[in-house]
Amino acid sequence: MSKILVTGGTGYIGSHTVVELLRAGYTPVIVDNLVNSNAGVLDQLKKITGIKPEFHNFDLCDDEKVNQFVAEHPDITGIIHFAAYKAVGESVQQPLKYYHNNFFSLINLLNAYAGKPVNFVFSSSCTVYGQPDQLPVTETAPVKKAESPYGNTKQIAEEILAETAAAFDNYHIVSLRYFNPVGAHESALIGELPLGVPQNLVPFITQSAIGKRGPITVFGDDYNTPDGSAIRDYIHVVDLAKAHVAAIRLLEKGNPKGNYDVFNIGTGKGNSVLEVIKAFEASTGVKLNYQIGPRRAGDVEQVWGDVSKSSQELGWKAELGIDEMMRSAWKWEQYLKDHPLA
Ligand code: UD1
Repeated sequence: MSKILVTGGTGYIGSHTVVELLRAGYTPVIVDNLVNSNAGVLDQLKKITGIKPEFHNFDLCDDEKVNQFVAEHPDITGIIHFAAYKAVGESVQQPLKYYHNNFFSLINLLNAYAGKPVNFVFSSSCTVYGQPDQLPVTETAPVKKAESPYGNTKQIAEEILAETAAAFDNYHIVSLRYFNPVGAHESALIGELPLGVPQNLVPFITQSAIGKRGPITVFGDDYNTPDGSAIRDYIHVVDLAKAHVAAIRLLEKGNPKGNYDVFNIGTGKGNSVLEVIKAFEASTGVKLNYQIGPRRAGDVEQVWGDVSKSSQELGWKAELGIDEMMRSAWKWEQYLKDHPLA
């Protein structure tokens, strides 16, 4: 069946998507420069699927390498573009690093496919909504000024893609606006591998639970929410991975809405930080140490998605709940303790 280029395919969401593509009968081809991932993931993918995917290690900012790759792979019909920098705090410190990497890679890919029909799925984020005026937030909500260079790369990339799709018929593009991906594959052979101290909530929870970190700090309990802590739409990474397969299928059959479209990818339900902590404790039986701290700069109070467009037009819906997200994240953390990926 069709060959799909998965950039960033050894990363957290990329690796889970490679598994789902294989399960759906596609042939994924991974390009990754391993800057924030690990070549050991390829063996893990083989353990899960029986197949070690084709892998190319190069930087997508190198246009000659991208052009050469595209010339040597004329049978690729789809691209899922994950490869990007994604640390919000670092992007504030080093904005040019973010603009350089996230835009050059995207533009090189689009240029390399000039004139060739291609289905393109882009990793966007609910960060484009900022603090929405209405909840749940729909895809037609206004895009607010980005809080960070990272967020700005997602907003501008969406504009680049919309304009490219409007100008040239060969590009069939969908941006998926992810809410908060958490959890791990049920096999516990792949999952999130944060570099250094995790900035995101769930990896911090699992590392704290296993004793790698101290107590969790809840960033703020004075928000205007039922328990005072901030609310997000957490989505299981396996559900998220399946949304990419659904997006490729939609593009293959032809999106009646045109050459560019956006979809919210969440569960449609919000959970507070304190609810996530309680869900972790209830579903794993492990007690967490946590303390209340000040709000984190740049955080929004609450956001969750309206996912009716995804369910109606993409034919995709999240199936796994918060307990499964916590159980699988914990199983992965325990696996990593005994099997550090080299
Ligand atoms: C963050 C990014 C978002 C990005 C996403 C990728 C910001 C402002 N947003 O989302 O743009 O797409 O990661 O995964 O950084 N929390 C704690 N204690 C912790 C860590 C987090 O209380 O130690 C809270 C946060 O304040 C937030 C919630 O947990 O309310 C989720 O935080 P996090 O996992 O970092 O995700 P976001 O900030 O929602």
